[in-house]
Amino acid sequence: MAVEQRPDQLSEWQSQAMTVPESIDLFLGGGRGGGKSFLLAALFLRHCEQHGDQARCLVVRKSFPGLQDLEAEFRQYFTSIYGTALRFDAQKHKFTLPNGSTIQLDQLEREADFSKYQGKSFSYIAVDEAGQFASPALVDRLRSSLRPPAGVPGRFIVLANPGGVGHAWLVRRYALNEPWKPYTDAATGFDFVSINSTYRDNQFIDRERYAKNLMASCATDPELGRAWLNGDWSVLRGAYFSTVIDEQRNMIEPWPHLPNRYRKAGANTLAHHDPRLAMTDRWEFYLAHDFGVAAPSVTYLVAKSPGAEGPDGYHYPRGSYILVDEETTTHPDDLNTGLGLTVPDQADRILSMCQHWNVTPRGVADDAIFNRTGSQEGSIADEFRKAGVYFEKARKGSRLAGWQTMRRLLADAGKPDVPGLYVSRNCRIWWETVPSLPRDPRNPEDVDSSAPDHGADACRYALTGNAGHVHIPVTFSH
Ligand SMILES: Nc1ncnc2c1ncn2[C@@H]1O[C@H](COP(=O)(O)OP(=O)(O)OP(=O)(O)O)[C@@H](O)[C@H]1O
Ligand SMILES: [Mg+2]
Repeated sequence: MAVEQRPDQLSEWQSQAMTVPESIDLFLGGGRGGGKSFLLAALFLRHCEQHGDQARCLVVRKSFPGLQDLEAEFRQYFTSIYGTALRFDAQKHKFTLPNGSTIQLDQLEREADFSKYQGKSFSYIAVDEAGQFASPALVDRLRSSLRPPAGVPGRFIVLANPGGVGHAWLVRRYALNEPWKPYTDAATGFDFVSINSTYRDNQFIDRERYAKNLMASCATDPELGRAWLNGDWSVLRGAYFSTVIDEQRNMIEPWPHLPNRYRKAGANTLAHHDPRLAMTDRWEFYLAHDFGVAAPSVTYLVAKSPGAEGPDGYHYPRGSYILVDEETTTHPDDLNTGLGLTVPDQADRILSMCQHWNVTPRGVADDAIFNRTGSQEGSIADEFRKAGVYFEKARKGSRLAGWQTMRRLLADAGKPDVPGLYVSRNCRIWWETVPSLPRDPRNPEDVDSSAPDHGADACRYALTGNAGHVHIPVTFSH
């Protein structure tokens, strides 16, 4: 039974999306309730009708309850078309259409789930609610199962809403690209088009009520509610630090060199050997490090101000922190994956950063790297020490207290008389990740730790690490 798609069955946005050539992959973004999942069913239907038993569709979600909702929607949709001729295998979550084409729904949560796809090929693959994946690794891996038979087009479709743990990678790859205009996704090399809808594009719902309910469901997080309503990916609403980070106040241009450590605040003579000059009257420089091998390491060179002018001519109130430079092992395509470098290799990279700025490689790091590993080398901190990088425990206190300190310092940047947190433009990972870090859905006062929070963690250690009380010798050439 061939099915005519009556134009009034789809919204205008959905109809227009159907006209995008099949050779181009789709990113369906925007806000909630715009009709993305329904459009997916329509795209599957067309593909199945055209290619019969050659058509094999797969749609995955990360969570099982989410999958059940989608299954119910699909069931209703395809039953309304095929009635009892539609077959459904509840065990395999698989629909078989009368012409032999199939649509399978599946949960994809972790690497091990891929064994299910061993030797299986699909012609259409969709990832629904892709924002629930903290990193694109699984999504990219899934693509390798896209192997349509000769003559059948293959297509990959990514659907997502703003504000999830995957917000940052979706923004980098897809969400902010000009709508309807094809581009090549630099990370994967495939041609994509990004198209956005909001509930306003969907005449099949009671829009006024939908908006009201959506805002009510986000009562404790109205910014997320607005992002879901308006499909706003650019202003990273719903993010943990969104209300306290402002590039105008927090971002500084890269320093040409460090300030002279021994110049007393306000004085224009060097006080190099003046014993009366307290530690707190000097600039302090130290490292702050968050360790990872499979996950990225991030290391900051931190400057703490005695209340003095920086080399950029700006006055930094006493107690202000400046992230001057960043060294990271973050994978270029994935903010949550490390380069897999050994400790000596990581130490080498940190040493070159320290050489560049002419500072001694000392600082604070995550307490966990001081744990004995059972290997001959001792702890990771021991290994770093052997390679010439000296870390002390950040004694980080509670995570939540650390985040509070970080929020306060960020909010106070730019005020003339209280300490603030300033971050150089060249701290790329910080600027790519921290502004968009989502809240933990189970505890809105915490950062979602499945998001790429490595830069944020290292930054937190910089502020709470007590490094200011540790004597950190600095060699100086100027
Ligand atoms: N063309 C259509 N005909 C009938 N109902 C539709 C149509 N498009 C969407 N709907 C209905 O509108 C509601 C929202 O659509 P859908 O679930 O596809 O939106 P979505 O963008 O996937 O939302 P979310 O962001 O919450 O996942 C659903 O109940 C869906 O069945
Ligand atoms: Mg949906």
